[in-house]
Amino acid sequence: MNNFGIGNNTFVAESARIGNNVHIGHNCIIEDRVFIGDDTFIDSNTIIRQGVSIGRGGFIGSNCIIGEYLMDFCKDRQYHSHPLSIGVNVLIRSGSIIYAGSTIGDHFQTGHQTTIREKANIGNNVSIGTLSDIQCSCKIGNYVRLHSNVFIAPLSVIDDFVWLFPHVILTNDPTPPSSNFVGVHIHSFAIVASGAIVMPGLDLGQDCLIGAGAIVTKSVEPYTVVVGNPAKSISDVRKIKNKVTGKLVYPWREYFCNYMPWEGIGFEAWFNSLDLNEKQKFTISDINI
Ligand SMILES: CC(C)(COP(=O)(O)OP(=O)(O)OC[C@H]1O[C@@H](n2cnc3c(N)ncnc32)[C@H](O)[C@@H]1OP(=O)(O)O)[C@@H](O)C(=O)NCCC(=O)NCCS
Repeated sequence: MNNFGIGNNTFVAESARIGNNVHIGHNCIIEDRVFIGDDTFIDSNTIIRQGVSIGRGGFIGSNCIIGEYLMDFCKDRQYHSHPLSIGVNVLIRSGSIIYAGSTIGDHFQTGHQTTIREKANIGNNVSIGTLSDIQCSCKIGNYVRLHSNVFIAPLSVIDDFVWLFPHVILTNDPTPPSSNFVGVHIHSFAIVASGAIVMPGLDLGQDCLIGAGAIVTKSVEPYTVVVGNPAKSISDVRKIKNKVTGKLVYPWREYFCNYMPWEGIGFEAWFNSLDLNEKQKFTISDINI
C-alpha cells in the first residue's frame, strides 16, 4: 500500500501528466491527456476524465467525477473533445461532479455533492455550497459566493462579488416547458437572500438586496431592497441597519471584508490600488468612490 503517491487499484493513463508531490488515493481513474499540477491531493474513488487540466495545490475529495461526459458521449460512446480547465489551489469537496467543457478559475471551492454542468465560465475565488446545481452555459464572475442548495438555470450571468444564500433559484423558462430560455443577470455586489426565486430574464441591479423568500417578477434597480410575493421595493439598501448592532451595513463592501481582496485595507484603498488593467478584470467599473 502507498500512503503517499498512488493508492491501490488506481489507474493512471500513460498520456496523463502528473506533477510532483501529487497524491492519488485508492480506486481512482486518471484518464488520457489529464494534467495534474504539483502538490495536488486526490482522494479515493475519484475519476478524472480525458483532457482535464487541474492547476497546482488542489484538493479533490473522494467520489468526485471531474470532466464528466456530456450527452454526445452518452449517445454515441465516442469521445468528443470538451476541455475542462480548473485553476490553482482549488478545494473540491467529496461527491462533486464537474462536467467537461468549462473554465474554472483559481481558488475555487465547492461543498459536497455540487454539480457544475458544461460551458460554465467561472472566475477566481468562487465558492459554491453543498448540493448546489449550476446548469449549463452560465457565467459566474470573481469572488461570487453561492451557499447550499442553490439552483442556477442555464444562461444565467452572475457578476463579481455577488452573494446567493441557501435555496435561491434562478429560473430561465418564462413558459415551461419551452425552448425559449432567457437567463437572469445579477450585477456586482447584489445579495439574494435565502429561498428567493428570480423569474427568467430579469436584471438585478448592482448592490440590490432581494429579501428572504421573495418571488422576484420584475427587474430590480441598483441599491433597492425588495421583499415578498410578488417582490416590492421597501427601502434603499443604504438605509438598512443590522438588527444586532443597529449599524448601517450596506453597501456591504464598505463594512465586510472577510476573504475579500480588500481584507485588512478596506474596499476603497484596494480599488484605488488597482491599475486600469486590473480594474478591467472586475465587473465593478461603475463604482463611484
Ligand atoms: C430584506 C431584509 C434584509 C429586510 O430587513 P429589514 O430592513 O431589517 O426589514 P424589517 O425587519 O425592518 O421589516 C420591514 C418590513 O418589511 C417586511 N419584511 C422584511 N423582510 C421581509 C421578507 N423577507 N419578506 C417579506 N416581508 C419582509 C417586514 O415584515 C416589515 O413589514 P412591516 O413594516 O409591515 O412590519 C431581511 O428581510 C432579509 O431578507 N434578510 C436576509 C435573511 C437571510 O436570508 N440571510 C442569509 C442566510 S442566513
